[in-house]
Amino acid sequence: MSVLPPGPPEPPLLQTLRWLLRPISFLESCRRRFGDAFSVRFLGFQTPMVMLSHPDAIRALYTVREHGLPPGRTVALLPIVGPRSLLLLEGREHLARRRLMLPPFHGERMRAYESIVRDAVARDVEGWPVGRPFAIHPHMQSITLDVILRAVFGVTDPARRARLAERLGRLLASTSSVGLQFGVLLSRRFGGPDPLARLQALTRDIDALLAEEIAERRVDPREDILSTLVTARFEGGGDMDDGEIRDQLMTLLLAGHETTATGLAWTFDLLLRHPPVLDRLVAEVDAGEETYLRAVVAESLRLRPVVPLAGRRLSSELRVNGHVLPPGTDVTPAIWLAHTRADRYPEPFAFRPERFLESAPATYAWIPFGGGVRRCLGAAFAEMEMRVALAEILRRRVLCPVSTAAERVARRNVTFSPSGGTRVIAAARGARGPAA
Ligand code: HEM
Repeated sequence: MSVLPPGPPEPPLLQTLRWLLRPISFLESCRRRFGDAFSVRFLGFQTPMVMLSHPDAIRALYTVREHGLPPGRTVALLPIVGPRSLLLLEGREHLARRRLMLPPFHGERMRAYESIVRDAVARDVEGWPVGRPFAIHPHMQSITLDVILRAVFGVTDPARRARLAERLGRLLASTSSVGLQFGVLLSRRFGGPDPLARLQALTRDIDALLAEEIAERRVDPREDILSTLVTARFEGGGDMDDGEIRDQLMTLLLAGHETTATGLAWTFDLLLRHPPVLDRLVAEVDAGEETYLRAVVAESLRLRPVVPLAGRRLSSELRVNGHVLPPGTDVTPAIWLAHTRADRYPEPFAFRPERFLESAPATYAWIPFGGGVRRCLGAAFAEMEMRVALAEILRRRVLCPVSTAAERVARRNVTFSPSGGTRVIAAARGARGPAA
């Protein structure tokens, strides 16, 4: 008979609170007590969730294509992304969409979007306060929203873009509110009015704006990702109808906006507390070099993984650490633990981009984008966006931290986010950078 790995004996309520309020100390205490694999029990889940951190176990998990979605994803995302979202489909339906949607996200295609990111940064930086503290995270959010609206949705009409940005901003803000999430769980569990109902008018409004964009691209395809979705064909023929394209646009927005903004906020938090790294990066950016910039992004995503879990529900048994986990078990890499293994990363808690100068990160020991057949579709896009935005900001502004203490990890929706929004003080660059 198979037995799950041991885990904390505390009741599920306590484990859930520790995970929600102090995720890093919870994970570290599990690592100390149980090692590479352990089982946690969260409130609202019928069965334990097994967490893994050894690269071999993670490879074993991610290389089986047939495993299903992790629990809870549909409940949380369906109202926004819609039923045909890539994030929610499984099996052949998922694979067919993935094949259709992958080409515009291919690494080589990313150069085409660099100027959109540069322009979005330039516009936002203009409005930054000078010489007084402000949180950089919200600015990263408006930059990444602007980039998605232009590169993915391809909205060129300024008035329509402003309307969409305003409404999407409101939708994203309300769905990330903890109060709303609790409300949804409570109404599902005990009945009563659905708190998401009041978002329906907003969603209808957004859908109408998106429908106009989709209709225009059907007549006149352009360079944006929406155009490639409109013209793409499934392998067996046929295309995505307007309703499905709407679902995929909302999926790309939801999956790609907050994540990339948070990755950037963490990168600044790390850079500002490591002046030698920042100095080297600024010098390399000024010289037009990209190698160190790539290493900084990789190291930042290692030490501050934005998405903590990317799990699967097993479709077949999985053997890990002497345990045989049966089909139906929920299993996830604990990305923080995988990224801070001393056997893979000497001085694992040090911010040292140099570790990635000689060799690229190892596939299953560096998993900020998950892995296998559900690996992040926008990984190349996100890395490009982070590189270009970092370089452009450092060319335009000198940044100083507001406090000496590093940001605490706070959970925000499905992400690990800097609790204070990464507060900085900015000044215009002097003679070295372009006019700010
Ligand atoms: C730093 C930024 C980002 C991080 C850390 C991140 C992380 C992730 C992770 C962990 C997953 C789940 C992978 C798995 O289960 O194996 C995922 C899925 C996904 N991401 Fe990202 N992501 C980022 C940016 C983006 C961007 C910019 C886009 C698109 C514009 C995007 C689109 C997607 C999509 C569509 C999926 C679902 C893939 C599928 O189910 O097949 N992501 N991402």
